[in-house]
Amino acid sequence: MQNYWNRRFTNEGRIWGNFPSRTALQAMELFRKESVQKILIPGSGYGRHSDFFAVEGFSVHGIEVSDVAVDLSVCSTPLVRYFRGSVLDMPFSDDLYDAVYCFNLLHLFRAGDRKAFISKCAAQVRPGGVFFFTVFSEQEPTCGKGEKVEENTYESKPGRPTHFFTHEDLMDHFSPFDVLETGLMADEENHGNEGPHVHLLRYIAARKT
Ligand SMILES: C[S@@+](CC[C@H](N)C(=O)[O-])C[C@H]1O[C@@H](n2cnc3c(N)ncnc32)[C@H](O)[C@@H]1O
Repeated sequence: MQNYWNRRFTNEGRIWGNFPSRTALQAMELFRKESVQKILIPGSGYGRHSDFFAVEGFSVHGIEVSDVAVDLSVCSTPLVRYFRGSVLDMPFSDDLYDAVYCFNLLHLFRAGDRKAFISKCAAQVRPGGVFFFTVFSEQEPTCGKGEKVEENTYESKPGRPTHFFTHEDLMDHFSPFDVLETGLMADEENHGNEGPHVHLLRYIAARKT
């Protein structure tokens, strides 16, 4: 996984541009309502979401496996700190966070690692804290393309397995928590050879009880 992402960030730079995904705006509404101050962003990339939340006044810790991505980040405020490494090796700090915002990372793991990753996130969130995760849905055009490596999981790009979540599947992953909201969201991107395209993402907002 690390090689795949280092190669992509080396070849494509700040792949998704400098603006946050629209899902971050929705997450921010929840975070404001919940009086969140401190956010963990697993798979923080080059920091487009960390920067967005920091500009909005949140304190942010990011965890990123690609050194190339972290080197591309512009950490212009002390409100943001990055840890280099795999989220599967969390924790990287003793801090307890008010919220986790995780954009399009969970679907990159196989079944065992997905459950382990969610548990590790939960261990870093205070009781009553909240999660906002986005993932590829089963309605993505690439669902079913490439080699099937597990149930609903395909290697559509070599070295990058992708799990495609149905509503029931996503609810099952977050069953230890109070689910606040879930749904589908179209997220526009424009990068590389693909040009402008739309991802059909699922999002889930949940609370650690
Ligand atoms: C789809 S990208 C999203 C990046 C970022 N959230 C954004 O939207 O700008 C997934 C990110 O997760 C990172 N990643 C993949 N596996 C990881 C792991 N095991 N631990 C930490 N980061 C990982 C990748 O390097 C990449 O930056």
